Amino acid sequence: MAYPYQVTNLEQYHSDYKKSIEDPEAFWGNVAENFVWRKKWDRVLDWNFTEPKIEWFRGGKLNITENCIDRHLETMADKPAIIWEPNNPEERVRVVTYARLHKRVCQFAQVLKNNGVKKGDRVCIYMGMVPELAYAVLGCARIGAIHSVIFGGFSAQSIADRLEDAQAAFIVTCDGAFRGNKDIPLKSIIDDALIGNKVVQKVIVFTRTRTPVSMLKGRDVWWEDEMEFAETQVEKDGVVSFPAEETDAEDALFILYTSGSTGKPKGVVHTTGGYMVWTNYTFVNTFQYQPGDVHFCTADIGWITGHSYIVYGPLSAGGTSLMFEGIPTWPDAGRFWDIVDKHKVNILYTAPTAIRSLMGFGTAPLQGKDLSSLKILGTVGEPINEEAWHWYNENVGKKKCPIVDTWWQTETGGVLISNLAGITDAKPGWATLPMPGVQPLLVDEHGKEVTQKDENGFYKGNLCIKAPWPGILRTTYGDHERCRTNYFATYENLYFTGDGAIKDENGFYRITGRVDDVLNVSGHRIGTAEVENAINMHAGVIESAVVGYPHDIKGQGIYAYVIFDKKHTDDDLTKKDILQTVTRIIGPIAKPDKIQFVKGLPKTRSGKIMRRILRKIAEGETQNLGDTSTLLDPDVVDEIKEGKI
Ligand code: WTA
Repeated sequence: MAYPYQVTNLEQYHSDYKKSIEDPEAFWGNVAENFVWRKKWDRVLDWNFTEPKIEWFRGGKLNITENCIDRHLETMADKPAIIWEPNNPEERVRVVTYARLHKRVCQFAQVLKNNGVKKGDRVCIYMGMVPELAYAVLGCARIGAIHSVIFGGFSAQSIADRLEDAQAAFIVTCDGAFRGNKDIPLKSIIDDALIGNKVVQKVIVFTRTRTPVSMLKGRDVWWEDEMEFAETQVEKDGVVSFPAEETDAEDALFILYTSGSTGKPKGVVHTTGGYMVWTNYTFVNTFQYQPGDVHFCTADIGWITGHSYIVYGPLSAGGTSLMFEGIPTWPDAGRFWDIVDKHKVNILYTAPTAIRSLMGFGTAPLQGKDLSSLKILGTVGEPINEEAWHWYNENVGKKKCPIVDTWWQTETGGVLISNLAGITDAKPGWATLPMPGVQPLLVDEHGKEVTQKDENGFYKGNLCIKAPWPGILRTTYGDHERCRTNYFATYENLYFTGDGAIKDENGFYRITGRVDDVLNVSGHRIGTAEVENAINMHAGVIESAVVGYPHDIKGQGIYAYVIFDKKHTDDDLTKKDILQTVTRIIGPIAKPDKIQFVKGLPKTRSGKIMRRILRKIAEGETQNLGDTSTLLDPDVVDEIKEGKI
């Protein structure tokens, strides 16, 4: 069997689960034996959640790119590692074999070295979905540099904040990125982000859109020139080599910024050994990956899903990962189905928001598309409503493909709760059972385990995890205390996910959504405080409060209540100005869907905004607003209700 640790039947799931909980060190030590280590670990696991300190495979030495690339070269040099489908279907597909991937990653590692990047340095990557993005990520890993990929939808200001937080001295970007009929000027956004920046030394620019760019002498260099020169260094007589840097299992592999309940995004840090084992294990088991399968994860590498299930999971398993540059609805809403047909995709992994948006186009875009290669479907990022689940099952999977509903987070590195395709049962809208090694616990607000069923017969509470799994975050970059207070301090000795969940009598979990002030808009995590801060930066805004409301396609929409300083003559124009400000400060993904101007916000006597009331009003509820007696000025509620949009 290709993967000795692959769970192949239900009994094995139960017995592996049991072993993983009873003796995690033995269990994960066995799994880890299937990877390439320069030196074996001294200890599998050492941890406490109070500091927190979490160490997996301590003392183990490895390089993750040897696991993702080199070890496959002997038998799979000519097999596709990455199949790249361009934004424009007329453009040439690129098939990157393992041999080619090896060469490009070695070359780019050399480029980084030539430009002064050393082990431990932070490299910010801001690129579109081109294979070069994968080369950049793996090139960093090859030399032990820490990558920090920033999604292309973030603004210059967001990039500047992240650069500053990580003290990154190097950037890899593109002139521009194609997305549908748009051409996003990435380099120019980077240039804006770099105004006043004194830390960045080099910017490496890959040519994708041939958009005119300014190239600063001494700082900006072209990818193509650098790669050409590096080729002469890494290739001798047709043999390519660039010795991979030896890293410790607990050396940081990457930083990925994500939103929390405070205004400032956190740099979640993942380390090398545990993350590798976890993404590989969950990839092979959740999707029941078989060698040769074409795996199509539609996420962007700017998010954790892309890191784990486009790059590290599939490649460490010697798999074939399909990378798509474009969007599901361009040139038309049949784009995904064309790709499945064209590349004989076996596994399709996407977000409920994409399914809902495609549902809106009916089944016509599916007509004439051969989807018979599909074996397994997956969803991630947000709860899936039953209607979308059934549509996906019937029209895409033709009722023959198990659907895995994978619940996880940037912080968890890989899937924590999901059915295993065809092995454990699916239940529409439910993520179902935990992966081996994962011990979920539902607690009440005091941190006590919920032991009583609610009126619907479910256990309902805040979702925590009792012990570490190999892919758990280790810290938040530059601020370990923040990691502790955010995740490990709410409830003693527990990792708190920020999600609410219910559990049925079979032990199946259904994740119901965030219980903190984090929104999930089209599967993107956005903090309400972040959006409020951005709105408040607009001249004239006195105060604002942002809440989520149910949105048919996005899952959640952003509803902003704004107090403006004086009577403005044109509401519409002012709203547009506010949207422009949010786009500047965070990026277009955080633009409110609705803005309501109000005279006051419902506050308690101590000055706290009662978001519960605002949430209810945004949801369209006008009657049962709960107890409003503690409000400083109950009249504002009526005014807000009347002005609801
Ligand atoms: C939500 C994405 C329900 C959840 C991998 C979580 C989900 C947040 C699911 C993390 C799911 C993710 N069902 N909700 N299958 N998957 N979520 O960090 O609220 O971008 O906390 O990671 O998405 O979002 P993140």
